[in-house]
Amino acid sequence: MASASTNDIEFRSVTKNYGAVTAVTDINLTVPKGAFLALLGPSGCGKTTCLRMIGGFEQPSAGSVLIDGREMNGVPAYRRPVNMVFQHYALFPHFNVEQNVAYGLKQMRPRIAAKEIDRRVAEALEMVRLGGFAKRRIHEMSGGQQQRVALARAIVNRPSVLLLDEPLAALDKKLRSAMQIELQTLQRDLGITFVLVTHDQEEALSMADVVCVMSAGRIRQLGSPQEVYDRPADLFVADFVGKTNRITASMEADGTTLRLADGSAIASGKKLESGNVIAALRPEAIHLTRKAAAGTSFKGTVTHRIFLGSSAEYAVSVPGLGDFLITADRRSMNESDLVEPGEEVFLGFDPAAIHVFPASNA
Ligand SMILES: Nc1ncnc2c1ncn2[C@@H]1O[C@H](COP(=O)(O)OP(=O)(O)OP(=O)(O)O)[C@@H](O)[C@H]1O
Ligand SMILES: [Mg+2]
Repeated sequence: MASASTNDIEFRSVTKNYGAVTAVTDINLTVPKGAFLALLGPSGCGKTTCLRMIGGFEQPSAGSVLIDGREMNGVPAYRRPVNMVFQHYALFPHFNVEQNVAYGLKQMRPRIAAKEIDRRVAEALEMVRLGGFAKRRIHEMSGGQQQRVALARAIVNRPSVLLLDEPLAALDKKLRSAMQIELQTLQRDLGITFVLVTHDQEEALSMADVVCVMSAGRIRQLGSPQEVYDRPADLFVADFVGKTNRITASMEADGTTLRLADGSAIASGKKLESGNVIAALRPEAIHLTRKAAAGTSFKGTVTHRIFLGSSAEYAVSVPGLGDFLITADRRSMNESDLVEPGEEVFLGFDPAAIHVFPASNA
């Protein structure tokens, strides 16, 4: 079939109300063909609502959703070239694993040969690492295994768009990491568009090539994982995607001198309007040392240490500025031993690593 558009999915000024509740407001979004998009945001921000409007399980109250350049308003779910893995995956309890995965293929017309169905079901089960589970009944599977059956059931139909609502939520950390790689490989191999919903920033950053950060029904930032992490559009994004130290400051009239709460000054890399601001600094952008190094640094006292194996997190209290969180990769630390709570330390950083936001944005 000739393709009508280079975009697989497009939202044009989409708003969705459920009675008096506005779930999403004025969403504008285009997803290129073959992209891996993550909708990332806190609980209740409207992620599932967006996914359900692509899938055809909800209709926009205003605006329109297009798939492959075609307006989808009024097109029922079963007529859309998409498959959805639901947040609460509904498997058929009276079928075994294999029958659950094969269900969609058996409904297809013209019919698919039984041998071909068997082959594709086996292939899909291998992809989600459930090769030996074909004959198991659903109630004999763990939550994480059921989640993978739901995934196999969606990919087996080879849709042109796959919608995934928190598909890895029930998995343990190790299996989740493995499945993140599997999903990414799967998406590349199949060459189809994936839209993944998650509230887990690590999941979004590690898998997607486009991340859409949402809050309270609106898009806050759309960009590559690196863009949203390195150049957050606002304080919400800076806080939600990764961790951030906030420093209360004011921008002087020259637009580049940041005056901090303790009276010290830093030259900001970016020219900004004068006034009250919040300076944001990532925990890993700070270098912890026992001796003062050249360049910009604060002096403080370690109050807590969280040992994480290959790295450690420190809470450091800096007089006049408050508490700082610092992530120190043990391999990159000059001093091999861990710093102890109670020790006096220096927090060095490159001023260019500071992001300055208007305080009204907080
Ligand atoms: N059927 C519904 N009727 C009324 N309000 C709804 C309905 N579905 C969702 N909402 C509301 O719309 C908003 C967005 O819900 P949505 O399910 O899209 O959030 P979400 O981002 O997927 O959250 P979570 O991460 O908790 O799954 C919420 O305030 C929710 O309470
Ligand atoms: Mg949801």
